[in-house]
Amino acid sequence: MNKKVEISFQDEKIELPVITGSENEQAVDISKLRSQTGLITLDRGFKNTGSTSSSITFLDGERGILRYRGYSIEDLAQHSSFLEVSYLLINGQLPNFNELNNFKSEITNHTLVAEDVRSILDGFPPRAHPMGVLCSLVSSLTAFYPKSLDPNRSLQEINGTIIRTIAKLPTLAAWSYKNRVRQPIIYPRNDLEYSSNFLHMMFALPTINYEVNPIVANALDKLLILHADHEQNCSASTVRIVGSSHASLYASISAGINALWGPLHGGANQAVIEMLEQIRNDDGNVKKYVQKAKDKSDPFRLMGFGHRVYKSFDPRAKIIKKTCDEVLEQLGVTDPVLDIAKKLEEIALKDQYFIDRSLYPNVDFYSGIIYRALGIPTDMFTVMFALGRIPGWIAQWKESREQNEPIGRPRQIYTGEKLRDYINIKKR
Ligand SMILES: CC(C)(COP(=O)(O)OP(=O)(O)OC[C@H]1O[C@@H](n2cnc3c(N)ncnc32)[C@H](O)[C@@H]1OP(=O)(O)O)[C@@H](O)C(=O)NCCC(=O)NCCS
Repeated sequence: MNKKVEISFQDEKIELPVITGSENEQAVDISKLRSQTGLITLDRGFKNTGSTSSSITFLDGERGILRYRGYSIEDLAQHSSFLEVSYLLINGQLPNFNELNNFKSEITNHTLVAEDVRSILDGFPPRAHPMGVLCSLVSSLTAFYPKSLDPNRSLQEINGTIIRTIAKLPTLAAWSYKNRVRQPIIYPRNDLEYSSNFLHMMFALPTINYEVNPIVANALDKLLILHADHEQNCSASTVRIVGSSHASLYASISAGINALWGPLHGGANQAVIEMLEQIRNDDGNVKKYVQKAKDKSDPFRLMGFGHRVYKSFDPRAKIIKKTCDEVLEQLGVTDPVLDIAKKLEEIALKDQYFIDRSLYPNVDFYSGIIYRALGIPTDMFTVMFALGRIPGWIAQWKESREQNEPIGRPRQIYTGEKLRDYINIKKR
């Protein structure tokens, strides 16, 4: 039966169709609302508004479910690899043996970036945040691959840009760190797996042979899987909306990196560690900070807590918390900040303020502690998130173009001045 919603406005009644997704989530299709009633909808922050239909990621915030292309995040984190998950997100199916090998070898063959990128990198001062450097370098790829600007390219050519994006991101990410610490850049090594190669470019020096620790490489690969997509969040929506103007993939991903940077989104992982350090330096007074977070006159929020969609638990946070304990134990690392994090979680989860608002630790709460244990510096945490999110952004950009989505252009309710006469400056 086709469901409909009936609305009445100024003695007129109209029916709006109800769209049902494959997991039975439902939406009112308002595409004819304005032409039939003159009304638009207003929904700040899109809290109730679907911007598209998508077959990439399923997320049920009430039940704490996250699936990529139908596969549970728990299964993928346990059994898959980041490149396999990348293939899955972008192409819709898990690859067979040959498909995965071809995909890996294509990526491996494109890890090098043009030498001229080095002079762009050299222009950045050492204080430049690596996220700012990364999005600039990704955007600069349009200059090296100008054909990527053509919105009417063949699928094969688009695929070439997709492969280059996945392949070159670790190189650009690691180089943005090398700029920060004023060390010589390290070139990719094509005999290494994706995550190991990234660690090599981050930590090797021309003078020292860096041995990749498999525990570190495996933990990183898992973290990248957990970050690989998250349906229509702030940065994915940015990528889709920029792509809807037929901007190139590089330009769209660069915009996504900028959107991710903010502390309410991917930047939260850096903010969490800074907050935990602050609490530690304040005699580990966790209760004081829980109190501050509840005080509406205080702008302080518990970073790494709360989520727009998850209202019971964040399944990624559950996996990360477990991984965090395992990695720290395997590496023999003790981090006093972990104890503060656990205490904070325990107190907050029992507090009525957090219970009433369904505020739980999110993916960023424990990921920073693992990154620290892996030797990743704090201001690279959000870059790590970006590295993981690349296949998701690509899949979202590709799907939007394949669905031939119209240019993204919301409406507004104007609340400014009505028409008034221009006044000569001498009379103002
Ligand atoms: C993620 C986040 C931006 C979601 O925002 P949102 O869906 O717009 O939810 P709101 O900001 O409206 O929050 C709802 C209520 O919970 C409170 N709240 C949300 N997150 C909070 C936090 N981390 N600490 C304290 N209070 C919080 C809000 O003040 C609001 O309270 P109110 O109803 O009394 O006004 C928000 O929870 C947040 O800022 N978290 C910290 C940053 C973070 O970890 N981001 C990473 C997300 S993966």
